Amino acid sequence: MKLFLDTANIQEIRDGARLGVISGVTTNPSLASAEGIGNSESYKTAVCEISDIVDGPISVEVISLDAEGMIAEGRDIANWIPNPWVKIPSTIDGFKAISVLSKEGIQINQTLCFSVNQAILGAQAGSTAVSPFIGRLDDIGLQGIDLIKDIVTVYKEHSIETKVLAASIRHTLHCTLAAQAGAHIATVPYKILTQMVEHPLTTSGVARFKADWEKIANA
Ligand code: G3P
Repeated sequence: MKLFLDTANIQEIRDGARLGVISGVTTNPSLASAEGIGNSESYKTAVCEISDIVDGPISVEVISLDAEGMIAEGRDIANWIPNPWVKIPSTIDGFKAISVLSKEGIQINQTLCFSVNQAILGAQAGSTAVSPFIGRLDDIGLQGIDLIKDIVTVYKEHSIETKVLAASIRHTLHCTLAAQAGAHIATVPYKILTQMVEHPLTTSGVARFKADWEKIANA
């Protein structure tokens, strides 16, 4: 399972990229807004900077709610950087836009997916990846990870090539479960990426190796 960073924070992306484990970045209007980005020009500037840091697909979300607006934005975003994935929501207008843009060779990250049926529709419309939001399903009392399992099963059964991109990841167990469920990609906030590294036995083990070494080295 590949890992993407789910953030528009440039410093987090620089720090995360240094680990050598990040294959892409996902952004959305909420993440952009959290960085003080509130218009297309500043979004573009940030996305270009992100693209210079990470060698992989950078997901950029459209703001329009109507198909024509999404199509126009998608065509524009497609020219911002070398490897854009245009994020389009799983709505009627979204599917119209996905089917037009995908036929033009534009890579699509179909976002806000909450059902297998939406994932089936997206695959047929030409989505490169579909993003089921695990955490938001957990928020309403469902098992978000079950959606990942179900989409992976259906896509395998029908040899569908659309990637399953686990999104709305809220904790490290989500990452483990998404990998076990067969997600191709998980997009994780920077904090969760660092938490994936941590284990108390690693911390204590490193301290013990150092202390044991110094016993003799300093004797
Ligand atoms: O990738 C989508 C993600 O940013 C949504 O996460 O935590 O807002 O549900 P969250």
